[in-house]
Amino acid sequence: MSLLLRITCAQYNMSPSLKILYLGDIVGRPAREFIGDRMRSIRTLNGIDVVIANAENVTSGSGINREHAEFLHGNGVDIITLGDHVWDRRGFECDIAHLDYVCRPANIPDECPGRDFAMMEKNGIKVGVSVVLGRHFMKIDATCPVRAMENILRKRGNSVDIFIAEIHAEATAEKIAFGWNFDGRVAAIIGTHTHVPTADDRILPNGTAYVTDIGMCGPHASVIGRDISQVLQSIKYGMPQKFEVATDDVRLNGVLLTIDAASGLARKISRFSERMA
Ligand SMILES: [Fe+2]
Ligand SMILES: [Fe+2]
Repeated sequence: MSLLLRITCAQYNMSPSLKILYLGDIVGRPAREFIGDRMRSIRTLNGIDVVIANAENVTSGSGINREHAEFLHGNGVDIITLGDHVWDRRGFECDIAHLDYVCRPANIPDECPGRDFAMMEKNGIKVGVSVVLGRHFMKIDATCPVRAMENILRKRGNSVDIFIAEIHAEATAEKIAFGWNFDGRVAAIIGTHTHVPTADDRILPNGTAYVTDIGMCGPHASVIGRDISQVLQSIKYGMPQKFEVATDDVRLNGVLLTIDAASGLARKISRFSERMA
């Protein structure tokens, strides 16, 4: 934290904090366009200092390419996290090395390219983020998410004022257990991957904000972002089927966090949802 910020906060008898918007999986063009049109005004209207978003579905619903990562970063998303779709776009395994604001899952093989931790500084306060994959009902092979996050915390925890841990997983129990393990040691534990928000946002007893899933940014007249009739065709007939990204009822879903920079713990968590007019 900067000296100037410390002095200013002391003058007004308050401890510094950051307001952070954490957005769920960004799905396809409809969500990209929404972010391009509205993110700057959302930031201003809500007094948001930092925006972090999982963007594992931003390119045609699966994966991310460099163009779309740069688009999000240029339109108000400060840090991008990824999930099990990390390598779905050919060429991204080379591009990721050039994108220091992009964070790939930490518990895939160490030999994989990209960073397992991303950080930024705002108002003299350093914010760091890491994401790990769950292991239950996931198609990608990953090591233990708890041990992986413990390792990152050991290596990087002291380098930031605010550390946020994301768990990208299918099983609710796995996410909840992960949350209890890190209560009081990180600012927030954010669940992603299911594309459906849960109503269990809260601050755990030792001061860590927690939510099992923050949902998705994308079309909600859909099946977790995909065309309803195509998914139903697949369920009913089992025939090969392309699942295109749906188009209607586009919303941004996530949580708003207020984090105390002195303690690195949460003051507030509330669900965030914005609908495209
Ligand atoms: Fe995912
Ligand atoms: Fe996703």
